[in-house]
Amino acid sequence: MGRSSTHQHDVLIIGGGGAGLRAAIAIAQENPDLSVACVSKVYPMRSHTVAAEGGAAAVIKPNDSFENHIYDTVSGSDWLGDQDAIELFVKEAPKELIQLEHWGCPWNREADGSVSVRPFGGMGTERTWFASDKTGFHMLHSLFQTTLKYDNITRYDEHFASKLLVDDGRCCGCAAIELRTGQMRAILGKAIIMCTGGAGRVFPFTTNGAIKNGDGMSMAYREGVALKDMEFIQYHPTGLPGTGILITEASRGEGGILVNKHGYRYLQDYDLGQPLDIHDPEHPRKRTMELGPRDKLSQVFIKEMQKGNTIDSKYGPVVHLDLRHLGEAKINKNLPFVRELAKNYAGIDPVYEPIPVRPVLHYFMGGIDTDLDGATSLRGLYAAGECACVSINGANRLGSNSLTELLVFGARAGASAARFAMDNPDFNVASLEAQAEDESKRIRRDYIETGTTPGTSSGDGGSERIATLRNEMHEAMEGGTGIFRDEKSLTDTCQKIAELRDRFKIVRIDDHTNSFNTDLTAALELGFMLDVAEAIAHSALERKESRGSHQRLDFTNRDDENYLKHSLAFWQDDDAPPRIEYKPVTITKWPPGKRTYGKGSGLTKQENETT
Ligand code: FUM
Repeated sequence: MGRSSTHQHDVLIIGGGGAGLRAAIAIAQENPDLSVACVSKVYPMRSHTVAAEGGAAAVIKPNDSFENHIYDTVSGSDWLGDQDAIELFVKEAPKELIQLEHWGCPWNREADGSVSVRPFGGMGTERTWFASDKTGFHMLHSLFQTTLKYDNITRYDEHFASKLLVDDGRCCGCAAIELRTGQMRAILGKAIIMCTGGAGRVFPFTTNGAIKNGDGMSMAYREGVALKDMEFIQYHPTGLPGTGILITEASRGEGGILVNKHGYRYLQDYDLGQPLDIHDPEHPRKRTMELGPRDKLSQVFIKEMQKGNTIDSKYGPVVHLDLRHLGEAKINKNLPFVRELAKNYAGIDPVYEPIPVRPVLHYFMGGIDTDLDGATSLRGLYAAGECACVSINGANRLGSNSLTELLVFGARAGASAARFAMDNPDFNVASLEAQAEDESKRIRRDYIETGTTPGTSSGDGGSERIATLRNEMHEAMEGGTGIFRDEKSLTDTCQKIAELRDRFKIVRIDDHTNSFNTDLTAALELGFMLDVAEAIAHSALERKESRGSHQRLDFTNRDDENYLKHSLAFWQDDDAPPRIEYKPVTITKWPPGKRTYGKGSGLTKQENETT
């Protein structure tokens, strides 16, 4: 490995998924003379946005209102979402989705030509726009093809960013390995936007693609930017056992039901927060029980398992998602991908058989701490999408808010980074190039030449295997920071991650070649994941309450007096745990209250008044 070249641009985006591409378009539109670089470790159409299925939320129908969407999101977040951010998000959402259609996104439509919307978990009203059940695929295509018309956007596909370059307190680029050649590049920008997505691969059973390793979160964290609300990890209630493939919430939005081993709709036995009388079999919205918030449905699964009501499968306990009553025509029209996935990966045709499902790690509510424009505490560094925490999701995200979020905040981060770049044109190229050179040497020393590393903790460098460390991390995170946690499980996880970080210093890679060295990238990704794992475990240990997706068996209540605040995890050094601080949640018009969903909308005005 060597450093071959320096590339200078006005704005550099790290990550080529939905948020990154939306940011790139915003910059190109803000000022067509700005040169934009987009660095991505995969070809952009392989970014994880492509895997999103169910849809994107925005108010569009006459029976809906901004107020309703805001309230659902605030309440769904268990009051940890910042209300100024949520209000802004909800109000900018419809124009982003309409804009996306103008760029080619084929939203499903009604016979009268209006946009179709479907119900989604925790949303009181049908407000989730969809393109069949391949929404992310169509959104990403629309964004990608739109970027192609701007000559000022340069792509660095299959470039692996390993470190941010920071000079005099300002972020001005990244060191990135060109995967084809193994050469290190200094890719510089007057402003940088991090759009690298989440970190689901910190856990063993996840809907997240293999590329989601928390790269951007870790890079920002190591430069002193706080990771906010990392203890809030979303389990989606319906993952396909064995693979982790998502069976979209849209299947329940279309009317699918969840049953236990007795064929019983077990959700009716639990308080999910819906104001409706779900015991009334005649109630027109009885089905809303399957559309409760994801955190609660996942928690209920564990309770059903403890009661012995789940079904044994070769992949462990499952429940059944039954779509059969929807009929083949509806499944083929609105859920064709679900049918395809169930057939191909579980050997089950949902037209005739129920689909086995279980909770699966899906999404990070937390991430890089940003303001409403995506700006971080590090000058020149912005972030958007799942790697960022604005925060609109608080302690639990509502399904279909995240695709819209990456558009709204990708666009805002792009526009503000463009303005920052125009206002701050000068930076010290020589210093940044020297840092990229150092990064190249570090990677050579710590990974390529392992076994000769001086000062490693055990003195026998190069003896630890990537897969062993990764498996042990998975086990610790699933066991200690899963759907339910307590002091002991979290303390054990913190200790285990510290041990793994120490052992990681002598990780060994066997491939010492330059071209597409996946052994090397797996090692670098493991390093990123261990940083993220550490931030999760310590943030969770310090939050002594239960809120949203953070459920402590030893502190079972929400504690607004002491914990209505965002956690901030700060990197200290390789041998010290993170420092945990807090900052207030922004409450504007919606004081903390009992968490409900389905309030009002989806019902007629009259139903609303009587429930
Ligand atoms: O179930 C789903 O389609 C997931 C959507 C989301 O996470 O927003």
